Amino acid sequence: MSTTTSAAVLRPEPFESGILGGPVFRLSFPAQSASPGGDEVRVLVEEARGAGARLVSCRIPAARQDLASALERGGFRPIETLVTYSRPLRPAPSAAPGVRPATAIDAAACVAIARTAFGYDRYHVDPEIERSVADEIKAKWVANAFDGRADSIHVACPADAIAGFVICRLAGSEVTIDLIAVAQDQRGRGLGAALVAGALRHYDGRAEVMRAGTQASNLPSNRLYRRFAFAVVDEAVTFHLTPMARRE
Ligand SMILES: CC(C)(COP(=O)(O)OP(=O)(O)OC[C@H]1O[C@@H](n2cnc3c(N)ncnc32)[C@H](O)[C@@H]1OP(=O)(O)O)[C@@H](O)C(=O)NCCC(=O)NCCS
Repeated sequence: MSTTTSAAVLRPEPFESGILGGPVFRLSFPAQSASPGGDEVRVLVEEARGAGARLVSCRIPAARQDLASALERGGFRPIETLVTYSRPLRPAPSAAPGVRPATAIDAAACVAIARTAFGYDRYHVDPEIERSVADEIKAKWVANAFDGRADSIHVACPADAIAGFVICRLAGSEVTIDLIAVAQDQRGRGLGAALVAGALRHYDGRAEVMRAGTQASNLPSNRLYRRFAFAVVDEAVTFHLTPMARRE
């Protein structure tokens, strides 16, 4: 199903649907979209409900108070503010000791870190989504990255064991940090910085700009990107509607 009204579009999200145990949709408004008409959001919400939606998400520019009001009238809840950072690849930072490209053998360790590392993303902060489901989304995300979705994966190995990873995706001259995490008991020792430095060095000469996104509430990752002189280029708010999020 992909439904369009005059402005908004409702699209299925197969990745999340598989994990939440029922249909998940994303509602999007085109850039520069006019304010939705009175019934527009309600009609799309009813359609998603009729399809048995577990979750409908919608991300809008932080400045669009009109869209935020329309979503809240339709039963959506604001969940997170997402900050997008960007910086040129040059100048590249100095070498990052203990960081190396991942191999297939590293997949299980990275998936295990992903399963316990996250807490600020929209799945983890939404009280209507079970913690185990939110953890599973991150674990599968990393498994998919190893199955070919990523352009590169680097791991931090300060000793024998893998302590963190950074996953990047490349589109033209722009590379995006798709996911970064350090194991909880290894944080605050510079490994996050080493991973970002490793990714920046890897793409020096391969891309022109690196982007990264994180929640405004995620102090450690905001500090991490600011430390490397990333600048804020966008702020967006994510809304959730959860007609029946929990699996029976
Ligand atoms: C973000 C993350 C990767 C940073 O890893 P880390 O190894 O702790 O990072 P570093 O030790 O290199 O520190 C990076 C910055 O975060 C700061 N920081 C680390 N832990 C912090 C904490 N608990 N509170 C506030 N700041 C913190 C450091 O002081 C440093 O900033 P500074 O250079 O201004 O001093 C790690 O916190 C993490 O895995 N978080 C969970 C996953 C996540 O949220 N990922 C980001 C979104 S995809």
